[in-house]
Amino acid sequence: MANNECSFDTDMVSRLIRKRRTIKPNAYDDRPVPNAIIEKIIENAHWAPTHGQTFPWRFFVCCGDARKNLANTLCDIYRMITPKDLFKEKKYTGLRQNVLAAPVTISIAMKRDETGKIQEIDEVMAVGCAVQNMHLTATAYGLGGFWSTHSAATSRRYCDHLGLNQGDKALGLFFIGYPKSPWPLGKRGPITEVACWED
Ligand SMILES: Cc1cc2nc3c(=O)[nH]c(=O)nc-3n(C[C@H](O)[C@H](O)[C@H](O)COP(=O)(O)O)c2cc1C
Repeated sequence: MANNECSFDTDMVSRLIRKRRTIKPNAYDDRPVPNAIIEKIIENAHWAPTHGQTFPWRFFVCCGDARKNLANTLCDIYRMITPKDLFKEKKYTGLRQNVLAAPVTISIAMKRDETGKIQEIDEVMAVGCAVQNMHLTATAYGLGGFWSTHSAATSRRYCDHLGLNQGDKALGLFFIGYPKSPWPLGKRGPITEVACWED
């Protein structure tokens, strides 16, 4: 394709977008995800739009034995930040199980531009776009993905653990793995429910 050409198989693009599904770690098998694929997922995330070219996304990849430390850290944080009457055992054990069951967990963060010239909401939305790029790329490789915004993974304490600054945000965990069961079907209503236009 020439540099100035913009031509795609639009059916394929739509198919990829609609095929993307949230698939949780308990539905992954044990196959490791090759590093080359993880790198591609992150490279494509890095191509997300960014207001003012601040590139606010930060990714912390965790796989292999490091997952045990991550599971312990997040569970400890959940216990620490959750008032006793709100503590849910299922949320605690589920967090550990997710981290251990997924071959790859990517912690998602937003690094605030120090000049503050771009409003925070734009920086957060840019990270959302980056995660969508990750999820679509994972889908193209036959990988399931799950963006979890568990309270521990979005906490100030986890931000500190990641070495982030005061204005930065931890925006959850993105789990990746090969699904062991058939790819789930998605469901969306007609666009008239969410869009209107005038001629
Ligand atoms: C910003 C964001 C945060 C999310 N956090 C959670 C979460 O904490 N727990 C969860 O079960 N799903 C979470 N999801 C996934 C949604 O539940 C999922 O996208 C929705 O069910 C639609 O399914 P689909 O992704 O297969 O289209 C999150 C999605 C987004 C965009």
